[in-house]
Amino acid sequence: MKRHAMYPGTFDPITNGHQDLVRRAAGLFDRVIVAIASNPHKAPLFTLEQRVDLARRVLADLPNVEVMGYSGLTVEFARKHDLSVVVRGLRAVSDFEFEFQLANMSRHLAREIETVFLTPQEQFTFISSSLIREIAILGGETKEFVHPIVEAELKKLKRS
Ligand SMILES: Nc1ncnc2c1ncn2[C@@H]1O[C@H](COP(=O)(O)OP(=O)(O)OP(=O)(O)O)[C@@H](O)[C@H]1O
Ligand SMILES: [Mg+2]
Repeated sequence: MKRHAMYPGTFDPITNGHQDLVRRAAGLFDRVIVAIASNPHKAPLFTLEQRVDLARRVLADLPNVEVMGYSGLTVEFARKHDLSVVVRGLRAVSDFEFEFQLANMSRHLAREIETVFLTPQEQFTFISSSLIREIAILGGETKEFVHPIVEAELKKLKRS
């Protein structure tokens, strides 16, 4: 049986931590959909179109990975696209509480969908999109934490 997974998140913007997780998931599942939530309540810095475009360009070398934008419930997206696994990342204990709550809620809403947690390589454990955004806005260097394509977009922000 073919296993199709989704990796949902805001990806505002995609970081080397996200990328590490997508690559791991791509090795585990037949197909991985990186599902970018519009998440208007989070007031994203990049539009949904920009976030999707950046992720597509960064992940272009992975043949079994596809990037899509969505709004609405994650489990509904999973059902609609026949994705039986939701991949999420754990960086530290601090992620656990929220992720555990989310996974349990998702199970209540859709019993047939399993949440799977992956951890990144140690050097990526402290990277979050919110920190990257803050560093970029304050004029700091982000090249260690994001793909050069994303770094170029972040540099434009500094000038505007
Ligand atoms: N560096 C990382 N290593 C492993 N997992 C990560 C990393 N960054 C994010 N994730 C995981 O990816 C999923 C989507 O995360 P999300 O889009 O919220 O990114 P984020 O970096 O947490 O952004 P923000 O700081 O805006 O919340 C979550 O399960 C999150 O735990
Ligand atoms: Mg987050």
